[in-house]
Amino acid sequence: DTTPKKCMAVAAHGIRTVGVIGSGQMGLGIAYVAALRARVPVLLHDRSEAQLKKGLAFMDKLLDKDVTKGKISAEDAKETRGRVTVISAEKGLAGMRDADMVIEAVSEKLSLKEAIFKELSAKVSADTILATNTSSISITKIAAATIPEGQTASSSEGSKSASRVVGLHFFNPVPVMKLVEIISALQTSTDTLDRARNFAVACGKEVTTSQDVPGFVSNALLMPFINEAIMCLEKVGASFVIQRYIIVTSCLIEQGVATRDDIDKTLKLGMNHPMGPLQLADFIGLDTCLAIQQTLYNGTSDSKYRPSVLLERMVDAQWLGKKSGKGFYDYDA
Ligand code: 3HC
Repeated sequence: DTTPKKCMAVAAHGIRTVGVIGSGQMGLGIAYVAALRARVPVLLHDRSEAQLKKGLAFMDKLLDKDVTKGKISAEDAKETRGRVTVISAEKGLAGMRDADMVIEAVSEKLSLKEAIFKELSAKVSADTILATNTSSISITKIAAATIPEGQTASSSEGSKSASRVVGLHFFNPVPVMKLVEIISALQTSTDTLDRARNFAVACGKEVTTSQDVPGFVSNALLMPFINEAIMCLEKVGASFVIQRYIIVTSCLIEQGVATRDDIDKTLKLGMNHPMGPLQLADFIGLDTCLAIQQTLYNGTSDSKYRPSVLLERMVDAQWLGKKSGKGFYDYDA
């Protein structure tokens, strides 16, 4: 794809080579979109040779399917596959030396991620962006792990090292899902954020931004939703799943974790929901949402059902959603 828009995006992120650590379903998907869509050379590393082999076989399968369906040419598939270089377990993270950006996609364990980022920061150039695909772990904590021995968070070398760390949260399956959620650590520089955003766009993704809160916007919303569903199944504190989801959502906007549009976009593009929770709340009617939440709260005395103050105030203002012409969104009369 050589459209002017794509070329501009590639130029804007300045990533000539990307490294991916972990070749499980997320890492492999990231390597695939980087090689196929952003058209950059990819260094793919996994400490398990068996996992690397499995990942590459899956990539071949995806490319074959795209060729069979006429989505890409056989030449494109060959070039894409040619962009992927395997970095063996033996070579280790030293094999990432030439990468301008490394995206870590290993299992969701803080100690493992901290060890990888500590080692990486010592082995790659000081300008290499270090991104993590974590679903919930503090990016700020991971960034702190990159401060070199003998340096402090405020020393020039220490703060520079942490400033290139960013959260780049892809969704599963990566080749299909349109969203990348970008999370800024307290230390992340504007330049790191801009380059990470431009790279995600070059990979064919839309982006949202979230502050570094546990689970970010996506999992702060999705996991209570899933947990409540499980509780319904267990018949423990059975509740109205959608209402709980709307309560958490309005708390996120109330706390300024993300914008209205980014909150809704996260659920629409990250989880393929037909409409985001704030739009859904407008559709239900904010007074109805509040009344249901009050019933839940009064009936259970469980603080997780406490309606957000913002929702109460919006109902006070008679902003009731679609039916009144104004809610989280504005509607024509
Ligand atoms: N890898 C790559 N491509 C895949 C795939 C996979 N694992 N699974 C499906 N696809 C592709 C298919 O090949 C097909 O591609 P095509 O258009 O080129 O033919 C396309 O997706 C549609 O596949 P199907 O028609 O077989 O299947 P569906 O109609 O069920 O669609 C889906 C697949 C879009 C993935 C759909 O099942 C869906 O929307 N699932 C929900 C996914 C979701 O919400 N993910 C987010 C999870 S949360 C998360 O990742 C965050 C983390 O932090 C927890």
